[in-house]
Amino acid sequence: MFKIGSYSIASPTVLAPMAGVTDLPFRQLCREFGAGLTVSEMITADTGLWHTNKSRLRLPHADEPSPRMVQIAGSDPEMMANAARENVRLGAEIIDINMGCPAKKVCKRAAGSALLANEPLVADILQTVVRAVNVPVTLKIRTGSTPSSRNGVAIARIAEDAGIAALSVHGRTRACKFRGAAEYDTIAEIVAATQFPVIANGDIDSPQKAKKVMEQTGAVAVMLGRTAQGRPWIFRQINHFLASGELLPAPDFQEIGRALLRHVGALHQHYGDFMGVRIARKHVGWYLNGLPDGDRTRHDFNSLNGCEQQLKTLRNYFNTLTNYQERAA
Ligand SMILES: Cc1cc2nc3c(=O)[nH]c(=O)nc-3n(C[C@H](O)[C@H](O)[C@H](O)COP(=O)(O)O)c2cc1C
Repeated sequence: MFKIGSYSIASPTVLAPMAGVTDLPFRQLCREFGAGLTVSEMITADTGLWHTNKSRLRLPHADEPSPRMVQIAGSDPEMMANAARENVRLGAEIIDINMGCPAKKVCKRAAGSALLANEPLVADILQTVVRAVNVPVTLKIRTGSTPSSRNGVAIARIAEDAGIAALSVHGRTRACKFRGAAEYDTIAEIVAATQFPVIANGDIDSPQKAKKVMEQTGAVAVMLGRTAQGRPWIFRQINHFLASGELLPAPDFQEIGRALLRHVGALHQHYGDFMGVRIARKHVGWYLNGLPDGDRTRHDFNSLNGCEQQLKTLRNYFNTLTNYQERAA
């Protein structure tokens, strides 16, 4: 257990913010499988753009379990402060600031991880946002701009001085994008140099790796991104291993099917039929990856255009798998 401000976070596993992935339905499912904390997809600090459907759906949702954590991205301190205030007014309980995303759209406006090269601006943004709201403000960073200017420790100190409540660190620099392997030495240095909770992120894809990274870095928690796609039960598996040292068996087809059907139903509800059907295809592809007959099923699934058709196809597929599994047992 660790704390962010006055919020006690019950498990040491956090779902990473992922634009286009960690929407409300996925966050809820990951919480049910044991994620201690989830973060919304980033929302622009430009509140003038919040009327778009995309932004509207990323704003805080009253029915989301507490603490509701919303990530904002931008580079203008006053705009960021205003976005933080507006999110709190709408129900956000923790504000997370994105200085970790290398995406072009964010970096073109010198936001996300591009800010790491400008330490005075980082300090200005963090101080201004922390002053603007009476909820905890957290920060997500990479280890620096480039491997030769890895200023993660300096940024972490700036963050702590500004009153940031917790820090997530992805063990790559901005220049590395997603290439190479994440490194955890810089995260360990950040933990050693600061007092606030540090959450380790990058390439953590198994219970054993989570344990190793926590031991190596001294971080209070691990943050999981891509490995959770189509695998929300990874949180349960990691929590169990960290608590007991035992590996849980993989979920059986029946449980995978139940989770996926619930997920797809929630996507239909959240986005409406048209968008929901399209967004479901991406998630279903991840779940089916590596399952028997998964490629063909995904191919067929992608041609379906109705909610009920999608659910029926998945029900049939998982019924067949479950029957097969029971006959083989
Ligand atoms: C599709 C995708 C979208 C992402 N969107 C965001 C985002 O909105 N905000 C952010 O801070 N990081 C974002 N990230 C970075 C992740 O939060 C995380 O730091 C990164 O994926 C490394 O963790 P992993 O190896 O567990 O995936 C995104 C990553 C992916 C793959």
